Amino acid sequence: MMDLSLHKQLFPLLSLLLILFLSGQRMQAEANNSLQNPQLCEPTKKLFVFGDSYADTGNIRKSLSNSWKDPYGITFPGKPAGRFSDGRVLTDYIAKYLGVKTPVPYRFRKQMAQQLKYGMNFAVGGTGVFDTSTPGPNMTTQIQLLEQLIHDGLYTASDLTNSIALVSVAGNDYSHYLATHASPQGLPYFVASVVNQTTRNLMRIKALGVKKIIVGSLQPLGCLPQVTAFSSFQQCNASSNTLVAFHNNLLNQAVTNLNQSWSSSFAVLNLYDSFMSVLNHPTTHNIQNQLRPCCVGVNSKYSCGSVDENNVKMYRVCDDPKSAFFWDLVHPTQAGWHAVYNKLRTMNALQGIQF
Ligand SMILES: *[C@@H]1O[C@H](CO)[C@@H](O)[C@H](O)[C@H]1NC(C)=O
Ligand SMILES: *[C@@H]1O[C@H](CO)[C@@H](O)[C@H](O)[C@H]1NC(C)=O
Ligand SMILES: *[C@@H]1O[C@H](CO)[C@@H](O)[C@H](O)[C@H]1NC(C)=O
Ligand SMILES: *[C@@H]1O[C@H](CO)[C@@H](O)[C@H](O)[C@H]1NC(C)=O
Ligand SMILES: *[C@@H]1O[C@H](CO)[C@@H](O)[C@H](O)[C@H]1NC(C)=O
Repeated sequence: MMDLSLHKQLFPLLSLLLILFLSGQRMQAEANNSLQNPQLCEPTKKLFVFGDSYADTGNIRKSLSNSWKDPYGITFPGKPAGRFSDGRVLTDYIAKYLGVKTPVPYRFRKQMAQQLKYGMNFAVGGTGVFDTSTPGPNMTTQIQLLEQLIHDGLYTASDLTNSIALVSVAGNDYSHYLATHASPQGLPYFVASVVNQTTRNLMRIKALGVKKIIVGSLQPLGCLPQVTAFSSFQQCNASSNTLVAFHNNLLNQAVTNLNQSWSSSFAVLNLYDSFMSVLNHPTTHNIQNQLRPCCVGVNSKYSCGSVDENNVKMYRVCDDPKSAFFWDLVHPTQAGWHAVYNKLRTMNALQGIQF
């Protein structure tokens, strides 16, 4: 009897001593670390990225995409790396703005394990909030991949409260809709469905504890080379841009509502106005070629990066990718993204987006 009660009293005491001992060790380890690198005291700030080719930095499978072929990546990193550009894309510029490293693509998380502390990129080119013709994971599935990693203990609650999410919805749902529906009559209803699904995704990311979530507004689809090709890259298609304005109005309303229930945790990244401003005043940004893409197939059967059965190039690249806004029929060059980034900064559109 005595023994037992003594044991009962000793046990809390022993655990207290153990806790003190362990926390002393931890304090010493932290003190040691802080001597080498003061930043290690705080958890590393993380960026999580969801969406499509405007944000993908290497998730898309090599067999599915020209973005893993020459001449993609010639400006950065100097060879094809899966980015849909000659160089950096939106994700790289947002990471730079936030002062973090570009997060590792989900597909390379095992090979680049020491990089996981900067967050992770789940975006895959060609995907949408709904399924598209690309076999890549839709945005719901991309979010589930992060949920699984949290469940596996790779990221903790405090990692998430120290993180920002970037969400890119750049129009693949709409190209898929137009490719699979004879008439555009149902489009307005579909736009509302896309924005509603995007809103559900934003809430699901927020529910994981992510501090702040940035969602891109839809860029002017009517100015993309695949649309302006019909006017020899002379002018944007106004009716396409009207549809984009409808999407962006609904998105702004939805995010305003989310902000009210979640204490201003959401922000719309105004890609529409920043793209338009650069396209309307290209020379301000040292862009000579605002609508004609830098890299195109030799004819409509081929696209940037295509080769024929004898491995002969079936595309042409402009002399100076730095002077073109668009790289291929859909995606900006690094110079294009850099100009958009600078415009976002001068518009103060990035204010309030920080850890
Ligand atoms: C901290 O550094 C000291 C001196 O270099 C070393 O003796 C000690 O073992 C280190 N402690 C931990 C927990 O790493
Ligand atoms: C996303 O993909 C999953 C798995 O293929 C599917 O079950 C789900 O219905 C899709 N979600 C949406 C919103 O399309
Ligand atoms: C989108 O959500 C709004 C608000 O919840 C709802 O009124 C509307 O019917 C939804 N539209 C579609 C197409 O799902
Ligand atoms: C603009 O695009 C619509 C379909 O999205 C098409 O019907 C129309 O002809 C295009 N207009 C011009 C001027 O190319
Ligand atoms: C949401 O709140 C943030 C922070 O106050 C603000 O910067 C942003 O403009 C708001 N966005 C919308 C669409 O209301």
